[in-house]
Amino acid sequence: MPLSDCRQIELPKIADQRGNLTFVEGGNHIPFDIKRVYYLYDVPGGSDRGAHAHKNLHQFVICMSGSFDLLLNDGSAERRFHLNRSYYGIYVCPMMWRYLDNFSSGAVCMVMASAVYDENDYIRDWDAYVDALKQDV
Ligand code: TYD
Repeated sequence: MPLSDCRQIELPKIADQRGNLTFVEGGNHIPFDIKRVYYLYDVPGGSDRGAHAHKNLHQFVICMSGSFDLLLNDGSAERRFHLNRSYYGIYVCPMMWRYLDNFSSGAVCMVMASAVYDENDYIRDWDAYVDALKQDV
């Protein structure tokens, strides 16, 4: 899947005097059913996360607090997203190399995923990722 399949998705925001409420429905706001949610927090300044691809996993990345950058690379093009609001997120399609950096203090990164954790779905080596892309063609 090309990088252009990954995109920012704006979520509903119900605002009133008591504060804002945002919700996400699998298969409605995002193009997959949600099987797992995980989150990154207490990330030390200067730390990077990610640096891998997933063979089949669809993900949706939201910045719940603070800010960070999500870098996506499909082997030929690269795009950097700056996330700093909790009413939008980035849809990350399968076979996309991702990298997260620039975490602010107090940043919380929440990820919704289309499957439960499976280490066999990861490609953690860049050269193996490029080889896998060639086999897909
Ligand atoms: P990893 O996906 O490599 O983290 P990141 O991409 O954010 O840098 O996961 C870090 C560790 O946590 C690794 O040992 C696998 C484990 N893990 C789970 O057990 N379940 C999960 O849902 C996730 C996302 C990771």
